[in-house]
Amino acid sequence: MRLDVVTIFPEYLEPLNVSLVGKARARGQLDVHVHDLRDWTYDRHNTVDDTPYGGGPGMVMKTDPWGEALDSALADGYETGSHAPALIVPTPSGRPFTQELAVELSERPWLVFTPARYEGIDRRVIDEYATRMPVYEVSIGDYVLAGGEAAVLVVTEAVARLLPGVLGNAESHRDDSFAPGAMANLLEGPVYTKPPRWRDRGIPETLLSGHHGRIARWRRDEALKRTTANRPDLIERCDPKAFDKKDREMLSILGWAPDPAGEPYGRFWRRVDGVEE
Ligand SMILES: C[S@@+](CC[C@H](N)C(=O)[O-])C[C@H]1O[C@@H](n2cnc3c(N)ncnc32)[C@H](O)[C@@H]1O
Repeated sequence: MRLDVVTIFPEYLEPLNVSLVGKARARGQLDVHVHDLRDWTYDRHNTVDDTPYGGGPGMVMKTDPWGEALDSALADGYETGSHAPALIVPTPSGRPFTQELAVELSERPWLVFTPARYEGIDRRVIDEYATRMPVYEVSIGDYVLAGGEAAVLVVTEAVARLLPGVLGNAESHRDDSFAPGAMANLLEGPVYTKPPRWRDRGIPETLLSGHHGRIARWRRDEALKRTTANRPDLIERCDPKAFDKKDREMLSILGWAPDPAGEPYGRFWRRVDGVEE
């Protein structure tokens, strides 16, 4: 996979040399190109921003540096045999970045990122490239960062670990919280490793039992507990067919019940008389 990032802070992308992404680069699974937007400015101050039309606070990133930088990155990629680029525009007004979207992006051969600063990029730049390639406007959460570089790191790491051969154990991401395709998207429960005692704290007995069925059930119950506590919205969205008899028992203990109007497969809601955890 080829990645291009255009930014006014190339040094902010240094973490792409480290850990999983760094190793994927070293192995040639990821071909990363970071471009300094200011290389496409021609005035003494290397200006990349200007005041907004219509007034208001803050500055807006100018069309010309972005247009030239993107044209250059794209031309370079095409010359070296890359194809089918997609533009990834980090913005708090984008669609939420989810595991499902990470999977979709991991299947593309070439991602071009446009992390902005100030109040963002002149809209005409996004509209222009949308005529040539798919554009994903992506938000990594309901908060506003000072710039999109951290979002690029987040998206890149989530995508890179899904690429074939990048994770040592290909199974690792199948059980992840938010693994897509499952009827029930549950959060992963707690995990433990050696030593068996630490500061007087032991390991849940089931995990030491060697009994695969009981361990799987324990993990599922813990996932249900964590999801009902931290992300009740995920339980409400779950296809109720995804819950087996034991899940339903655990959900009932946790204070959840199927919507009676939806019988035989009503979605689960927290009971009004819900049992506190
Ligand atoms: C200060 S923000 C601009 C915020 C803009 N006024 C708005 O409310 O949409 C500057 C840049 O940081 C990045 N950014 C900020 N928050 C983000 C988020 N939650 N997800 C992705 N990118 C974000 C985007 O690249 C954005 O253009």
